Amino acid sequence: MLLHIILSLLTLALGTLQGSTSRAINNIAKPNCPTHYGNVTVPYPFGIGKDTGCSLDDSFYVTCDTSNEYPNLFLHSTGIEIYNFSESEFRIGAGIANRCYNQDGTIEENYGWWLQLNTFTYSQKNTLTVLGCDDYSLIRGTKGRSFSIGCLGVCGEVEDVPDDGQCSGPGCCKTSIPKGLDFYNISLSTFRNHTDVWSFNRCGYAFLGEEGSFKFRGASDLSPGGDVWARIKSTVHVVLSLLNAKKTVPAMR
Ligand SMILES: *[C@@H]1O[C@H](CO)[C@@H](O)[C@H](O)[C@H]1NC(C)=O
Ligand SMILES: *[C@@H]1O[C@H](CO)[C@@H](O)[C@H](O)[C@H]1NC(C)=O
Ligand SMILES: *[C@@H]1O[C@H](CO)[C@@H](O)[C@H](O)[C@H]1NC(C)=O
Ligand SMILES: *[C@@H]1O[C@H](CO)[C@@H](O)[C@H](O)[C@H]1NC(C)=O
Repeated sequence: MLLHIILSLLTLALGTLQGSTSRAINNIAKPNCPTHYGNVTVPYPFGIGKDTGCSLDDSFYVTCDTSNEYPNLFLHSTGIEIYNFSESEFRIGAGIANRCYNQDGTIEENYGWWLQLNTFTYSQKNTLTVLGCDDYSLIRGTKGRSFSIGCLGVCGEVEDVPDDGQCSGPGCCKTSIPKGLDFYNISLSTFRNHTDVWSFNRCGYAFLGEEGSFKFRGASDLSPGGDVWARIKSTVHVVLSLLNAKKTVPAMR
């Protein structure tokens, strides 16, 4: 099963935002528009609500959800949560691809993830991380032309997995992404369906997220019943960049 989320945004421009970033730096909303939601400052060109006139246009509106314990902000009307805004970027929740196997090598569950952005790009502050001992992930995407990059998590024995938090190959791998990326599609592949490592590693995970935000805890992150999914969800954010957006729009007033 694939979990698909797509944002079809109006493509438009950010060329002039570069010249106008000082407004965002000051975290100023448009007059008569809310400057905050919960503890998050919402700076113009973003604004709360569709058709409220608070955002530059439909690419920059955010919505609120008050039904949770603490208020959440979402990009447009999607389920993509926004955590904070700063001068030239903002942070959203990470999408995780994962695949788990049964002892006989059949697939127990399989989720891929893809996200298309038209107005924003993925910052190079993000890296692709793959967790697992028999897992690799190819991330495909575009930056004007298509590309793919991959990362490989392998190990034969649980003892191979470093316990000092190093994400450097055995059990955990990470790699950088190209500049200007505006689409990625991530899914997991395997060599032997985890049949050799199943006793200590049943699932593989892959996600794009801010470098350094995920702390690998070694073998416990690979073992069944670990909390790795929940930890990625709660600690890893994806950084989206405004300034590298590929289109240009008319000047902002
Ligand atoms: C806002 O509050 C939530 C819940 O207390 C917290 O998890 C989050 O880090 C806060 N965000 C900012 C930008 O301070
Ligand atoms: C946004 O969050 C990131 C990481 O959680 C933090 O480093 C950054 O300082 C925050 N920026 C603002 C403006 O709150
Ligand atoms: C993402 O990749 C999967 C697996 O390669 C493929 O089946 C799916 O069609 C792709 N989705 C998009 C939107 O490219
Ligand atoms: C892995 O699983 C796939 C799909 O269930 C199957 O086609 C393939 O033969 C399996 N490979 C191994 C090495 O078990």
